[in-house]
Amino acid sequence: MVQALGLATLSPMLNACARMFQLPVAGMATPESGPGTDRDPSGIWREGAAYARWTPSPHNIQPWRLRVISSTECELLIDPARTLPQTDPTSAFTILGLAMFVEYLSVAVRPRGVEVHAAYVGTAIDYTATTPTLFARLTLAPARGDARWNRALLLTRKTSRLPYDGTIVDDRDLETVAQISRELGHTMTSSSDHEMVEWTKDLNRFTLFRDLDDDAGRTELRKWIRTTDDEAASKKDGLWSHCLRFPGWLLKAFFDEHTKWGRGWRAKVCGEMLVQGMRGTRTVAWWRGPFAGPADWIQTGTMLGRVWLELAQRGIQLHPFGSVITNVEAHAKLVSKVGAPPANESLWFLARLGRSDVPPRSYRLDEHAIFIDDVSHG
Ligand SMILES: Cc1cc2nc3c(=O)[nH]c(=O)nc-3n(C[C@H](O)[C@H](O)[C@H](O)COP(=O)(O)O)c2cc1C
Repeated sequence: MVQALGLATLSPMLNACARMFQLPVAGMATPESGPGTDRDPSGIWREGAAYARWTPSPHNIQPWRLRVISSTECELLIDPARTLPQTDPTSAFTILGLAMFVEYLSVAVRPRGVEVHAAYVGTAIDYTATTPTLFARLTLAPARGDARWNRALLLTRKTSRLPYDGTIVDDRDLETVAQISRELGHTMTSSSDHEMVEWTKDLNRFTLFRDLDDDAGRTELRKWIRTTDDEAASKKDGLWSHCLRFPGWLLKAFFDEHTKWGRGWRAKVCGEMLVQGMRGTRTVAWWRGPFAGPADWIQTGTMLGRVWLELAQRGIQLHPFGSVITNVEAHAKLVSKVGAPPANESLWFLARLGRSDVPPRSYRLDEHAIFIDDVSHG
């Protein structure tokens, strides 16, 4: 059957099946061979990466690359083709994603009795680099204590942009997440107040549209927008219209004919779709903590990684409102609404939380694309 159909025919069919069934979890973490396999006879880095590649990253850029040194040592590098110089100028949020990747790699290898220790370079991302640059040297060391999260959660955690079910998130769940945040020096505050939730959703909508009026930012984001199912399935990165809950043609029109679609009645219709898509949201949360430089961003990423897994374990979805944080005007509005953080802290994350249907699964690069060999790096 496979041969009769031919591989070219089979690939779109498999993609269609994967979409229909939301990608079976069993097939999501199968290690593949590739560069460095010979230096890691136990296959532990590949096994870890098969799970960790499902780490969330801004716009699903997946900036991580791995270079295996031995079965206990590996380098984590930043792919210069997968960065956001315009929309993440300090590189804080990309570094946050890379630090989450390290945390998830550690969770992924835990069943083998080891954990990942990282020696970070600790500088902001160099956006002029043209070859992969070193982010951290990773080593495996015997695991301490009990595992906090089952690695299967790495495969089920997702960003849910679906409507939520109209219930508020339970105080006990919120307190557990706040405690995990505190362990790494951050304060999570939440609200299930109707006025606050609606105000936050509205600010997010307004800011998203405002941001897209900026030519440089929109041009950068456009590179990560996937407007057809085939494009999403072949590139395996970026923001797929299906996950954003917008028809692909509309998303394409919004970006490619922005002067027409970004204002007037068309923009109003799109804004209404966005707000409707978030109906049933009853809880929002925001985080503050040290966020001044690379060391803080790394710690923040470790924390957010843990928070997101804990929420996934409790069946609670998270949908970040990143634009409100990165847009200076919207950030100031949020700060004046919820109160300014202490002088040595920033309000760096805002999200809606709740329960929803199972969200669509966004793609990831194949595992073999993560591993590289013989790169020169600074
Ligand atoms: C630091 C950070 C900021 C993000 N900001 C947003 C955002 O503003 N809006 C949004 O819809 N998703 C946001 N996301 C979610 C990513 O787009 C998402 O993780 C990625 O597309 C992969 O999808 P998944 O989480 O379902 O695996 C953010 C993720 C991270 C790590």
